[in-house]
Amino acid sequence: MEVNLFIIIPIVFAAGIAAGITTVIFLAFKASAGKKEFVAIGASTVSGRGVFALKKIREGDIIERCPALEVTDKDIGGELLNYVFYGNNESARLVVMGNGMLFNHSSTPNVAYYREETGLGPELVLYALRNISKGEELFYSYGDEWWFTRQ
Ligand SMILES: C[S@@+](CC[C@H](N)C(=O)[O-])C[C@H]1O[C@@H](n2cnc3c(N)ncnc32)[C@H](O)[C@@H]1O
Repeated sequence: MEVNLFIIIPIVFAAGIAAGITTVIFLAFKASAGKKEFVAIGASTVSGRGVFALKKIREGDIIERCPALEVTDKDIGGELLNYVFYGNNESARLVVMGNGMLFNHSSTPNVAYYREETGLGPELVLYALRNISKGEELFYSYGDEWWFTRQ
């Protein structure tokens, strides 16, 4: 059987290009799917550092699960007082890792949180209260008591 190289060579060439493009798209998709960070630290619109959305976040999305360490109020002093959460009893305090301690306060927050006990210790789970645009600063509410006790 006679093989027409003028037909075969362009077909092989086109197939090679298509395979290359497919591989690049697949790898790019895999890389972006693996990127789970929703937020980054930047200059806040209200005070010092703040936390900002790196991409669009939908209402209900979990923004970050922050490992936390429960200590007593005796372990916490000075400026650190302004960074820790209340713990499971009056004297307990929660030191929250990751980006969890750097969110600023708003009385109309776009983020809320709850505590979850895991086999590895407590976690503070931060989630979106509404759709949030890329670039927006994220806030949770510190609560009235927080501001009242600090005047
Ligand atoms: C947990 S830190 C938040 C991160 C802080 N902005 C930083 O740069 O490290 C809490 C401190 O941020 C400041 N802060 C948070 N929300 C604020 C707001 N809405 N207005 C003014 N200051 C705020 C207060 O000084 C507070 O003591």
